[in-house]
Amino acid sequence: MSRTDIVQVIGRYVKLQHKGSNWMACCPFHKEKTPSFAVNPSKQFFKCFGCGEHGTAITFLMKFKGLSFPEAIKELADDLGMEVPEDRQAKVRQARAKTLTDYLAQAADFYHQNLFHDLHAIEYLKGRGITEETVNKFQLGLSPDGWQGLQEIFKDKAYDDPKLEESGLVIAKDGHRYDRFRSRVMYPIRNPRGQVIGFGARTMVAGEEPKYLNSPETPVYHKSQELYGLFEAREAIHKKGRAIVCEGYMDVIQMSQAGFLETVAALGTSITPEHVKKLFQLSDHVYFSFDGDAAGFKAARRAMESTLSIITDTQTAHFVLLPQDEDPDSLIKSQGPEAFEAQLRGAYPLSKFFVMDIVREVSQGRGLRTAEDRARAIAVAKPLLQRMSAQALRQLLVQELSSAVRMDPGELAALCGVTLLEVPQTAKPAQSQGYGRDTRQGERYRRPVRPVTTGPLFTNIKRRLLQCFVTHPAWLLKYSDQIEYEMLDTVDEWEEAIVRLWHLAQDHSKGEGFEQSQLTTGYLLSFMQGDPLYERVAELVSQEEVLQTPPEVAEYEIKCAFLKLEKAQLDAKISEILALEEQGEMVETGYLERLFRRRQDIHRSLVDESTQAVDFVLSNRLNS
Ligand code: UTP
Ligand code: MN
Repeated sequence: MSRTDIVQVIGRYVKLQHKGSNWMACCPFHKEKTPSFAVNPSKQFFKCFGCGEHGTAITFLMKFKGLSFPEAIKELADDLGMEVPEDRQAKVRQARAKTLTDYLAQAADFYHQNLFHDLHAIEYLKGRGITEETVNKFQLGLSPDGWQGLQEIFKDKAYDDPKLEESGLVIAKDGHRYDRFRSRVMYPIRNPRGQVIGFGARTMVAGEEPKYLNSPETPVYHKSQELYGLFEAREAIHKKGRAIVCEGYMDVIQMSQAGFLETVAALGTSITPEHVKKLFQLSDHVYFSFDGDAAGFKAARRAMESTLSIITDTQTAHFVLLPQDEDPDSLIKSQGPEAFEAQLRGAYPLSKFFVMDIVREVSQGRGLRTAEDRARAIAVAKPLLQRMSAQALRQLLVQELSSAVRMDPGELAALCGVTLLEVPQTAKPAQSQGYGRDTRQGERYRRPVRPVTTGPLFTNIKRRLLQCFVTHPAWLLKYSDQIEYEMLDTVDEWEEAIVRLWHLAQDHSKGEGFEQSQLTTGYLLSFMQGDPLYERVAELVSQEEVLQTPPEVAEYEIKCAFLKLEKAQLDAKISEILALEEQGEMVETGYLERLFRRRQDIHRSLVDESTQAVDFVLSNRLNS
């Protein structure tokens, strides 16, 4: 795979601009106005300095297009004319698969054209409120009335090709061959690469059974993995940061037309873990919408089960249960898109739906009235909790359930065979970890677009930081994470100088027989001779001859400096988001809250650090 050029691959989907050794763009994985998404051709790697997303050409395709690993490899191979090493059998399968999708694409074109010749079908779609634009977007069609309508495109011998059977378009029975789909509205189903892999076909005759006739499973069509509308919705899912999953073809189409472009549906099957995985590859927030009837409840339960085994602690799932006898299509038609948006706002988060659904199941809607009811609820919950890998979320589910079954969370966890982690009530940020990268907060918040830490105030902060580092080089190694995170894309010469020193310290510490004591100010300066930054650094060192800052105080100052830099970036990020919200753009739920919480933590740490510094200086004075 080494000959793949990552710039070429990513450049196909994102507008890249050459900047130094990198190619830059606005990040396709989060909202931003100034480019912080960098593609590095020599490392064949991409990284977003805004949201932290990173990876190779393959991971890019997986994330961006929602492809699985083999799909991404295949796409790279196809696009770049490369050969993927495969065994012979797989090659045969692939060759066959290609012709199947060719046939299916031809059929889809044919059905689509055919629709425009049929007044009845046009009236039907119009009657359901579908516009021509939507018909084109989803390539809706009409299968002809006759038994062998497809003869028109697959002429003579071509109609006898066994591949037509394999593709699901033609049925062979008792020596006869005939079209599977006749006189139905055709919904082509596409895979994430945009290839037609099957059809859903709806009757226009009220009451006719089956209402929908679907393509069978074929080598290119697997219902448990594909989602209707995913190809069309992919970009919107990225942009809006959420995916909506409905029950039906018509829902997807109607939702898309109403502006919910991020909508998909399972294909007449229940939601599988594979489906959920695909969605979470595209967005951290998934909304499931189900009709408010018994079948809807059942489908919601299956979706919840599939979600539990896939979801991680940084992702959210919500469940919408529509009013009785409504589906998204009917709701939007009768009450408008706002009505659906309101449903989304009122959706049950997974943790609430989990308890509610279990209670509903074991008590048939009467509520948990007896000890036996509660015991049954626990029995139902147990396997569900056990399949989860999201630790924090599981803990929350246990807590939610514990109040419903009136049992101590610890006991409940033990009964369900899961461990409950001890969490201190008020987790105060540990001193050296009171930093934005700290993943204990569940999720690293996104770094604002640089540069925001320029100007006289920050020059002072950074000059002092540089001074502390060069005169107390040990802290260069201890605060390595902070330097890397805060300064690797340097915005001014102060940061550059710090990064230079840091590299020197790193190289030194990796050398053989490294001794901390050898990492001295003199050592660093000697290496910096000839460097354009040397004069500045040397001047700061000579000032320190007078100041004689004790190492402990220097450390406090370093911590405070990083906190201040981080706070400035947070503030920039917060105002950026407030501005976005003001323009009515969707911002990931909880994101702003996290930023504010972090801001408050920083504030608290700053106070703590400076009090400690003062205490330290005072006690030194008293002792000497
Ligand atoms: P619905 O009966 O809710 O259909 O089935 P719908 O999508 O709302 O369609 P309209 O509004 O009547 O045109 C939901 C989904 O279940 C599958 C289809 O995927 C459908 O979109 N289904 C339903 C079938 O596969 N076969 C059927 O006979 C019925
Ligand atoms: Mn419907």
